[in-house]
Amino acid sequence: MPDGFQQLGGETLTGTFVLSVFTAVLGSLEFGYNIGVINAPQKIIEQDYNATWLQRYGEPIPIGTLTSLWSLSVAIFSIGGMLSSSCVGFVSEWLGRRKGMLINNMFAFIGGSLMGLSKLCHSFEMLILGRFIIGIYCGLASGLTPMYVGEIAPTSLRGALGTLHQLAIVTGILIAQVLGLESLLGVEDLWPVLLGLAIVPAVLQMALLPFCPESPRFLYIVRCQEHQAKRGLRRLTGRQEVGSMLTEMKEEKRKMEMERKVSILELFRSPLYRQPIIISIMLQLSQQLSGINAIFYYSTSIFMKAGVQSPVYATIGAGVVNCAFTVVSLFLIERTGRRTLHMLGLGGMSICAVIMTTALALLDSVPWMSYISMLSIFGFVAFFEIGPGPIPWFFVAELFSQGPRPAAMAVAGFSNWTANFIIGMGFQYVADLCGPYVFLIFAALLLFFLIFTFFLVPETRGKTFDQIAGNFHQHSAGGMMDMDTDMDLDKPTELD
Ligand code: GLC
Repeated sequence: MPDGFQQLGGETLTGTFVLSVFTAVLGSLEFGYNIGVINAPQKIIEQDYNATWLQRYGEPIPIGTLTSLWSLSVAIFSIGGMLSSSCVGFVSEWLGRRKGMLINNMFAFIGGSLMGLSKLCHSFEMLILGRFIIGIYCGLASGLTPMYVGEIAPTSLRGALGTLHQLAIVTGILIAQVLGLESLLGVEDLWPVLLGLAIVPAVLQMALLPFCPESPRFLYIVRCQEHQAKRGLRRLTGRQEVGSMLTEMKEEKRKMEMERKVSILELFRSPLYRQPIIISIMLQLSQQLSGINAIFYYSTSIFMKAGVQSPVYATIGAGVVNCAFTVVSLFLIERTGRRTLHMLGLGGMSICAVIMTTALALLDSVPWMSYISMLSIFGFVAFFEIGPGPIPWFFVAELFSQGPRPAAMAVAGFSNWTANFIIGMGFQYVADLCGPYVFLIFAALLLFFLIFTFFLVPETRGKTFDQIAGNFHQHSAGGMMDMDTDMDLDKPTELD
């Protein structure tokens, strides 16, 4: 094996490949950082909003106005994400995956700078605008990163590498939670640095992307640039002989040329794509409507209600569990398969939600229930990262061939961000209405998604993109497919 090459899962990984994946997932790190960064410094930023108001209007900010301004500051991030994620298809085809990621950094840079300078300029409008613009970055990154990584990954490692997107997200969340501590940057003078640090991953990604090759799959299948595609493949694999990989792409290209160009509308109209697009949307919904972001956006107040002594440290505990179990998933994903892990995660979360509710309901009469509720929240997060966290992000790229993939990623991203927004905005109100029973709603939804996955989601582990798409095509005429018998690799199938 040449120097600088690593062996993983039977695949030889080159320095260029490792660099390309690392660079791409810096976008995911940025995404996570901005999810996690807004939780801890809420009170001190609100004080600054008040100071600005006082300076401008000579009176303290009305409490209702402050709540609205704060909710807007949190939720406008998902609105940015919703808008831009629906453009992922267009951007990735027009600019390509790599240039798309490169230019996207502009948004992170502008957004981070606006937030970082907002205190200096006494302007909460700048902070809100900055959150919106960085949301735009994150929406695009949440599509471009899994697409690029999925396209350059060898088939046998596609799931494990796809999970790296989520691992970088959760690392970003944890870094933001830790830096947001009062003993670090979560204080009055330093919160602008905390928010402004968002430009760091963007600058790093901008500096590294020129050294990463464009996705050869994109170059060959979409741009018809065989020569460049071969060059990229050689750099990524370290092999001179890339004929077999090209043959697989040729086959996908040949099939794609027989299809018409796929628009978002056609994804729903064509019987070929209807089932995979419904599965993609449902997987995104299962991720967001699981209630995970109720924890990540509002953990401090949830832990307080659960009677936990140091809610801020409990939040960091949740962040650590979050990271640890994403690593567990990374190792399991190519062994156990996507379907099984997703179901295990959903089932586990549902059970934890029920335990959490019971513990919260009994809290007044049985004080040690606060420990049970904290543990069940950790369990909830752990099961999330086993399946529903990482899998939906890369699964969509797996379900579609090169032609419909960009449109499908856009639809999936948009569904994810919309559901994220709904939870972000709505959870507080519903929690006030339902009290300790609010997580029962998530338990029921999780059960529903578990049943859906059992009946309708296929296993894609170890299949090439062409085989996966081919399987849907075969079955589109005959209605919904029987996932267990047709796509489960552990059993012999007509594809093997
Ligand atoms: C997933 C979700 C994101 C959530 C995170 C938690 O990446 O898309 O919304 O905050 O997991 O780890």
